[in-house]
Amino acid sequence: MNKHIAVIRGDGIGPEIVNEALKVLDKVAELFGHTFRYTDVDMGGCAIDKWGDPLPERELAKCLSSDSVLLGAVGGTKWNDVPGHLRPEKGLLRLRAGMGVYSNNRPAKIWPQLSDASPLKKSIVDQGIDFIIVRELIGGIYFGTHKTEGDTATDVLQYSKKEIERIGRIGFETAQKRQKKLCSVEKSNVLDSSRLWKKVMHRLAEEYPDVALSDMLVDNCAMQIVKNPAQFDVIVTENMFGDILSDEASMITGSIGMIPSSSLGVTGCGLYEPIHGSAPDIAGQDKANPIGTILSAAMMLRFSFDMALEADVIENAVSAYLDQGFRTADIMSEGMTMVGCRQCGDLIVKNIRKG
Ligand code: IPM
Ligand code: MG
Repeated sequence: MNKHIAVIRGDGIGPEIVNEALKVLDKVAELFGHTFRYTDVDMGGCAIDKWGDPLPERELAKCLSSDSVLLGAVGGTKWNDVPGHLRPEKGLLRLRAGMGVYSNNRPAKIWPQLSDASPLKKSIVDQGIDFIIVRELIGGIYFGTHKTEGDTATDVLQYSKKEIERIGRIGFETAQKRQKKLCSVEKSNVLDSSRLWKKVMHRLAEEYPDVALSDMLVDNCAMQIVKNPAQFDVIVTENMFGDILSDEASMITGSIGMIPSSSLGVTGCGLYEPIHGSAPDIAGQDKANPIGTILSAAMMLRFSFDMALEADVIENAVSAYLDQGFRTADIMSEGMTMVGCRQCGDLIVKNIRKG
């Protein structure tokens, strides 16, 4: 197959981790006889420095005409003082909205090789951590009106029935493919938008009788994720709650550096990125963990290119690498061999084999 991938290296550790993911994709292409063509896209702080804009229209257009987008990370302290509408993160939000990717899928799964890295008690970890957060990505407070007038600042949180319905369906469909348990997370004891959210989820539940729907208030959910994560299969929630809960969920798995994500919308063209940030403190030092990005590339193959076998091969290679005892600094533990970002990529490439 011939696929065209838009590649956003971004800021901080972004270029380093993306390089390793491309090495892995090239190896898969060679092994399976595919051709992956890459187009570089400027987004984030580097685009501000170069073009004065975190995502110029022309760069967005490159993404829209690709088969899918692979992103490293954007942002950094260097751009802390630029005005809100010009922040690196604004480029990311514009990209998500421009691509129409309303559904963000963030798995929280513990790798058995890393179970010691979880900050939770062993008795809790041993019950199993394997759930997915389905986060609404292009609505809510992120995309409401933002304004500052004198000493008062306002951000509007708005959801329509239609927006809730389409992400709700993804939640139910994701649960159907797993343990058939969906937990809808909101703040319906306070927010109107959450009361609408809850109502829409319950109406949808009638169409998915095979899925058990439960409701949970977001503050309680934050607590339950550390108290009893094994209870969760699929969580569906609005944009900002999903942002916060997915950071929490990633932490209990041991390393935020290991977690990939997919963002999908109405077309097959998806956005794939690790859930961590640009880590400017370790940028350019060959210390970053590229696995979140490598696994994001695997998700791209699985969900946008229908290449399940190829995705399996990458995930197996990551597992083999961990079995061999290699660790980047973020997940280093006693008795393991510490490697840098490049070496991590090379070792995973070495483990890529069919069957
Ligand atoms: C994430 C990030 C982004 C978000 C930022 C960088 C805008 O935290 O992908 O979770 O809040 O969505
Ligand atoms: Mg976040």
